[in-house]
Amino acid sequence: MKKKLIQHTTDFFEKSFQKAPEHIFLSPGRINIIGEHVDYNDGFVLPAAINKYICFAVSKNTTTECAIIAKDLNEVYKFDLNDNLQPVDKMWVNYIFGVLHQLKTNDKINQGINIVFSSTIPMGAGLSSSAALECGIGYIMNKLFDLGLSKEQIALIGQKSEHTFVGVNCGIMDQFASVFGKKNKVIKLDCNTLDYEYHKADFKKYSLLLLDSCVKHTHLTSGYNDRRNEVEQGLAIIKTHFPEVKTFRDCTEIMVLGLKEELGEILYKRCRFVVKEIKRVQDAVKALSNDDFVQLGKLMTETHHGLSKEYEVSCEELDFLVDAVANETSVLGARMMGGGFGGCSINLVEKGSEKELIQKIAEQYRSQFGIELKAYKVKISKGTL
Ligand code: ADP
Ligand code: GAL
Repeated sequence: MKKKLIQHTTDFFEKSFQKAPEHIFLSPGRINIIGEHVDYNDGFVLPAAINKYICFAVSKNTTTECAIIAKDLNEVYKFDLNDNLQPVDKMWVNYIFGVLHQLKTNDKINQGINIVFSSTIPMGAGLSSSAALECGIGYIMNKLFDLGLSKEQIALIGQKSEHTFVGVNCGIMDQFASVFGKKNKVIKLDCNTLDYEYHKADFKKYSLLLLDSCVKHTHLTSGYNDRRNEVEQGLAIIKTHFPEVKTFRDCTEIMVLGLKEELGEILYKRCRFVVKEIKRVQDAVKALSNDDFVQLGKLMTETHHGLSKEYEVSCEELDFLVDAVANETSVLGARMMGGGFGGCSINLVEKGSEKELIQKIAEQYRSQFGIELKAYKVKISKGTL
């Protein structure tokens, strides 16, 4: 699949610019085992890059003009390096402009570029196609113009692009995973310090299966930014009572419970979820290290219920997909993955049972929602290359 993607992206570049591209880059999507909506709450997350990529075919040109072709959308965008970059009404361009805007002050960037990009990461499915796009562009500029950026800087530039040019106040997990991914390893990332460690992703008799609800989200209009505001308000209240609390990392469930009345129903639920989810990630890392997949699956399912009932970022279709596998003996755990409001569920399933399971759930899903379920078996892969 990777080969085919590279081939058709290269062919399209040649067709569009009458020359073979000088460089090919691959920027991966990500999964997240556990640790949802805690990256912007100073928690821990456990993501990994996957074998789904945006492929970029790239060459410098001899002008200051840039031409970027989003092959999958059949759209071209042209601009000049000297233009004052501002958000535009084509959303995909904003992810790119947000990165270029931050880099443009570097006078090493003195030549235009031609790019064709195409992808196997479904858009808006919670697999971070947007982070792959931002980080891919950062990586390309770094390589082509020798900017000396570290991987961490590339990830942070990607995140800032989303804040400033797209309007989604996202955390750092997606960009970090896309850039720092390693084959067969999950990344335990401390989102407070950006310290990270790799843990083996060997699930033995089990594999990771993604079920795509095919409900598309866009975090600009979903409740994503609202959740971020809510937890900020909640934390501010907690801090007035517990001056020793700097971040959610320092909070306990007891503290939150004690402030239930003052926080009010909504903020109480949101804060309780965050505190519990931060703890669950630590427990999940232990379970993974001990090959205790039953416990890992249990934690994943608990996360789903928290995301659905307390954090309220799931949707009917995702809840259905998680409930539908609850009594399947071949499934150890399932949960919605990523920002939510649509996208994929991630399932820890017995190897060999996938085909039958997909068929069964797809039938139920079709009859309930009239939607054709998609399923992806993913491999944990290397970051941007
Ligand atoms: P996710 O990151 O979960 O896939 P987002 O809504 O955050 O979902 O990002 C999806 C957006 O990223 C798309 O709407 C589009 O603007 C941009 N994008 C991602 N992949 C591509 C692609 N292959 N071609 C063009 N734009 C893309
Ligand atoms: C989105 C967002 C991430 C993270 C995630 C939920 O994917 O970009 O930063 O907050 O939702 O865990």
